Amino acid sequence: KILIVDFGSQVTQLIARRVREEGVYSEIVPFQKAAEAFAAMKPRGVILSGGPASVTEGESPRAPQAIFEAGVPVLGICYGQQTMAAQLGGEVEGGHHREFGRAEVEVHTASALFDGVWLEGERYPVWMSHGDRVTRLPQGFEVVATSENAPFAAVADEARRFYGVQFHPEVVHTPHGAALLRNFVRKIAGCSGDWTMAAFREEAIARIRAEVGEGRVICGLSGGVDSAVAAVLIHEAIGDQLTCVFVDHGLLRMGEAERVVTLFRDNYNIPLVHVEAEELFLNALDGVADPEVKRKTIGKLFIDVFEAEAKKIGGAEFLAQGTLYPDVIESVSFTGGPSVTIKSHHNVGGLPERMNMKLVEPLRELFKDEVRALGRELGLPEAFVGRHPFPGPGLAIRCPGGITREKLEILRKADAIYLEEIRRAGLYDDIWQAFAVLLPVRTVGVMGDGRTYDHVCALRAVTSVDGMTADFYPFDMAFLGRVATRIINEVRGINRVTYDVTSKPPGTIEWE
Ligand code: XMP
Repeated sequence: KILIVDFGSQVTQLIARRVREEGVYSEIVPFQKAAEAFAAMKPRGVILSGGPASVTEGESPRAPQAIFEAGVPVLGICYGQQTMAAQLGGEVEGGHHREFGRAEVEVHTASALFDGVWLEGERYPVWMSHGDRVTRLPQGFEVVATSENAPFAAVADEARRFYGVQFHPEVVHTPHGAALLRNFVRKIAGCSGDWTMAAFREEAIARIRAEVGEGRVICGLSGGVDSAVAAVLIHEAIGDQLTCVFVDHGLLRMGEAERVVTLFRDNYNIPLVHVEAEELFLNALDGVADPEVKRKTIGKLFIDVFEAEAKKIGGAEFLAQGTLYPDVIESVSFTGGPSVTIKSHHNVGGLPERMNMKLVEPLRELFKDEVRALGRELGLPEAFVGRHPFPGPGLAIRCPGGITREKLEILRKADAIYLEEIRRAGLYDDIWQAFAVLLPVRTVGVMGDGRTYDHVCALRAVTSVDGMTADFYPFDMAFLGRVATRIINEVRGINRVTYDVTSKPPGTIEWE
């Protein structure tokens, strides 16, 4: 087992994920709770994450000192390296040598961390993101690699098995990062590597049983992969104590409601309630243009509907959701963790503060592709497991500005054409997510001999591994031209089509 101490980096979960990929179980705890967790868990190794704070500020977070006194190996990443250096008697300097993005490190000395991966005297690409840097090492440490702006890019105290890296080995932009983490968890910490998704399934089932006891659970189904996997997993754990509720909020894509209901009723023996709530949602959203207000309004109504359904079945104490890690990290420091809010995903931050049901979120540590792997492990059909993600607030966040039924209808048609063409071109599985957005601007066009003054439709398609970072998909121009022509010809209300070429960051995948 590996304990990961979180100092609030946006990519802490990627560390956990890399550790899981090595077949090793890990737990993430916010630094405030690390002392207790360390004592209770007795891990074979500890990883200290990066974070937004500066060690040079007075009140900045620290790792529990006990971690350095227990004889277990420790790997500090970025802020983790800096706090480790500061706590063991070294020095860290603030500010002026900022390094963001790609950098190169040169390996000076062999280290157990580099074993079989990086060779002495060679240079390797890494991903850096730091403002501070270590300037004096604690006793026992030596420099094993340097970069132009970080003379202590990697440091090691081989005797105590303490390692620190200024770069981020957990992100894919550090090509050998996963292999370095493998060295740490497998060779240095000596974890065996026999943990699998099947083990996750068993552990998750045991956790759900312990959490829920004899209680009843309502699970919100969105039609997406996450909530379906959550439902099947919970059903395995507690059987008939689970009721699934599919809320049609009038913000679904074309044909979606029928597809979901048929799929669930035909494939599973899980009770499913189909709630038609278009009026309720669209009335509440009338005139609402602010993205966060939209998200919160929808989140609250979902809960109202779930609570009403819970009453009908004679009370349910728990609400299950397919919340994933990226939803959590980008929403709030919900776990008491230290990261910054990007947007309130309705699964998480959009929920009202006062709610009568307790949340069950068995997937909240996982990334999308891991949920897909778990779905396969649970025997869900491949066509279902491979579906693109669709956000809980639905088309509301793909219709910037105020939402009307008319706009939703236009958007649905454009979106359906776009996806049909993507499937026809055989590109669906190469793309993480593709959708149309209806912009709240009108532009002038000429069709036939007449003037038009209609909406702009933006097309978005991205590739991604986990939804945390994404690149726009490089369609060829002929494909885009074909889609644009079809949309403009077939959808009344749109006279211009654009393609979004923004990556994440700095954009997000959805427009709101
Ligand atoms: P962003 O737009 O934050 O989206 O880059 C990352 C991924 O999350 C999906 N998403 C949501 N999923 N509830 C969800 O269940 C939400 O409120 C929500 N907002 C965004 C988005 O579609 C993308 O896959």
